[in-house]
Amino acid sequence: MTGGHLQIVVCGAGPAADVARLVSAAHEQSWTAAVTATPSATDFIDVPAIEELTGTPVRSTYRSSPGTRRSLPAADALVIAPATYNSINKIALGLADNYATTSVAELIGRQVPTVIVPFVNAALAVRLPFRRAVASLRDEGVRVLLGPEDQWEPHPPGSGNDRQLAFPWTTAFETAADLAYEARTSERHVGRGAAG
Ligand SMILES: Cc1cc2nc3c(=O)[nH]c(=O)nc-3n(C[C@H](O)[C@H](O)[C@H](O)COP(=O)(O)O)c2cc1C
Repeated sequence: MTGGHLQIVVCGAGPAADVARLVSAAHEQSWTAAVTATPSATDFIDVPAIEELTGTPVRSTYRSSPGTRRSLPAADALVIAPATYNSINKIALGLADNYATTSVAELIGRQVPTVIVPFVNAALAVRLPFRRAVASLRDEGVRVLLGPEDQWEPHPPGSGNDRQLAFPWTTAFETAADLAYEARTSERHVGRGAAG
């Protein structure tokens, strides 16, 4: 789908520093993008650079800068990337303990097409709470890019810096755009059915 608005949520893991790659992938397909950061993620990202690229303030708290709307903008898709072990577990449980997780809870509830790209090592990924969280999110219709079929696997502990370069930013955007297109198409079909 070309043209839409992408809401991005970044968590506190190394690839957050490269989130501009996701914004650029969206811009190349005529999408706008805005970035929300968890409190931990603000240590990993270059906030002024992202704000200049997106033309939108990076939100990480409930406080908004003057002129910024307080409510969530309409989003055609949501990408949570990199998604930490911590945030994935919380989102699956429906916890909303900061602005980012609250936004995610609401956007998923509004059935905004959502893609999660975890960045977790294999020691964390094998934990039962994490596996349950991924399964639960998938049950809710969230697309979690993880596993051999997605060609994105947890990395060995201690190898995060090397794996960061391979983070699938373009795949994340393309998956979100495809889901947004499917959602828009099925809305049109439902609309036609209702009218008929
Ligand atoms: C330098 C550094 C790198 C980290 N890398 C990761 C990571 O790759 N994956 C992960 O799940 N947590 C990682 N963490 C731990 C998270 O930042 C920590 O669990 C934090 O509470 C996550 O908060 P958030 O989920 O709200 O962003 C890292 C922490 C630091 C300080």
